[in-house]
Amino acid sequence: MAASAPGKLILFGEHAVVFGEPALSTAINLRAEVYARPHKEWLADGASLDEPRFRYVKACVRKAKAEGPLWIEIRSMVPSGAGLGSSAAVTVATLGALHGRSGSLDAPSIAREAFEVEHEVQGRASPIDTSTASAGGGILVLREPRDDLLWSIERDSRRWFLHRTALPPLDFVIGNTGISAATGPLVARVKERFDRDQKAVEAVREIGEITLDGLRALQVKDFVEAGRLMDRNHVLLTNLGVGHPALDRLVEAARTSSYGAKLTGAGGGGSMVALTDRPSATAEAIRLAGGKAFIVQSDPAGVTKLR
Ligand code: PMV
Repeated sequence: MAASAPGKLILFGEHAVVFGEPALSTAINLRAEVYARPHKEWLADGASLDEPRFRYVKACVRKAKAEGPLWIEIRSMVPSGAGLGSSAAVTVATLGALHGRSGSLDAPSIAREAFEVEHEVQGRASPIDTSTASAGGGILVLREPRDDLLWSIERDSRRWFLHRTALPPLDFVIGNTGISAATGPLVARVKERFDRDQKAVEAVREIGEITLDGLRALQVKDFVEAGRLMDRNHVLLTNLGVGHPALDRLVEAARTSSYGAKLTGAGGGGSMVALTDRPSATAEAIRLAGGKAFIVQSDPAGVTKLR
């Protein structure tokens, strides 16, 4: 059994989405593939499932009530700790491989299980990463259901409605600082600020508004406005305490050849994304500023059975 799932790029709304604000993401054409084969003992990449690096995989095995033992192999093009949803891609692809034994894949139930796994392993989270990896394409997360609803996911008193959304075909340039930052503590830091500082509450609300304005701008191909909103979103995320000087350096470098740029994902290091119609020039500027740069496109395929 084998399955693949895409990494993701959050265009607007990371962190605020954990508090129920809207967010916009797209699956990207960097994917994780997971293979599972009956074996004499449980192994992942030839090592024990108890190793900390396999905690998502181990949680998937438990959640999917997978019969084994199995040898699980993970191949991922999504850099880890880079804000590109690598753990979600691996989680979704693992669940796909484990469930793929019993027929076709059910993306909504994989999205729900993957969110539970992420919550168990990482702590407080929103379903944006895991649902984008499950569904593929453009995803809009909202507080209420609208047209093009894919599914909803709830946890405690929070409920997210995940929608399919169309984005124009675009090149995005990603700049990876190479500084790996764990998502859980960054999400906890924002929550701590939110609980004691009214300014943080206002920043989270404004990010929610920016997301909806940004989506409208992208859909009418007003890239100047979309870029301006990305720049503002970056400032607000930095004010929430998830910026990093290396991110600012890459964002600044990218802006001379792009409409706008912001950190993407959890921040604290990790990656930034630029909206540009000169992807090679932007990638070169990011490299000169010390980042690893790559150009990605939206990937319409979510969790997919490989054989
Ligand atoms: O950095 P990533 O790929 O784990 O993205 C995290 C996105 C957050 O909004 C910061 C957290 C979440 O669960 O939504």
